[in-house]
Amino acid sequence: MGDTKVICFANNKGGSGKSTTCSNVGFGLTKLGYKVLLVDGDMQMNLTLSFFTEEEALGFASGNQNLYHAIRNQNDLEHYVQHTRYEGLDLIPSSTLMSGIEYELFTKWQREYILKKCLRTVLESGEYDYILIDAPPTLGGWVMNILAASHFLIIPVEASPWGLFGLANMFEFLSEVKEITPDLKLMGIAVTKVDTRKNYFKQTLETLREMDDVHLFDTYIRVDSSIEWAQDNSQPVISFKQSSRSAQEYMELTKEVVKIASR
Ligand SMILES: Nc1ncnc2c1ncn2[C@@H]1O[C@H](COP(=O)(O)OP(=O)(O)OP(=O)(O)O)[C@@H](O)[C@H]1O
Ligand SMILES: [Mg+2]
Repeated sequence: MGDTKVICFANNKGGSGKSTTCSNVGFGLTKLGYKVLLVDGDMQMNLTLSFFTEEEALGFASGNQNLYHAIRNQNDLEHYVQHTRYEGLDLIPSSTLMSGIEYELFTKWQREYILKKCLRTVLESGEYDYILIDAPPTLGGWVMNILAASHFLIIPVEASPWGLFGLANMFEFLSEVKEITPDLKLMGIAVTKVDTRKNYFKQTLETLREMDDVHLFDTYIRVDSSIEWAQDNSQPVISFKQSSRSAQEYMELTKEVVKIASR
């Protein structure tokens, strides 16, 4: 068995930077020489759209080549892997049909572990150094599946007054699902969309630093329009504009992730 590390990005607060962070840490890992599989677990398909055009993404979503099809039929995920344009970076696309995933899970035996089971062959093959899963902004049976399939959780938090609001729910959910996610460790909180022109972000960082037993990544990601341009071009910002501030910040964050995951 290989020692593939599975990291998920989750926060029930919408727009906190989960998909942006997942795509850039994923690409950052390949720049450091690791082989990476990204899994798009959200019906919004934002992770898929970070690497494929709308037309390509809709092609995966409307056919069989997507996570919804795999979960529904409890198939091995190895049959769903798509190569991106980047060496060493593969992706399992999502589908808008993922909106019905809770219903699909409901009737299944051991329904919290379906994703974990579907990932087993890929994991045991040792083909990837890292598998990164992007979660939707919800807390329910599907996110439970994502957490149960992961070794590490990274919570991206937006540096805004409401950015911290949902965090208590997230932690409550985590303590509730602890029994079915014995392998899971909270790797840390990554603060995103920091606007250094506004002092508010300092308060967010202070509040998070005061939390016991929760690691706060040293690197935070500032607001940067390059991120939006990169997404418009179906690319992670590290590839689209390597010289940009956010590209450099995401590379730093990636190095922090590797350091903790390799301990
Ligand atoms: N550092 C940044 N600078 C500027 N815009 C950003 C930055 N990070 C993310 N964004 C933008 O903020 C929005 C939300 O980011 P993202 O989609 O990564 O969050 P999310 O948590 O995945 O959202 P959801 O909960 O809907 O899945 C996107 O439009 C993205 O382009
Ligand atoms: Mg998202």
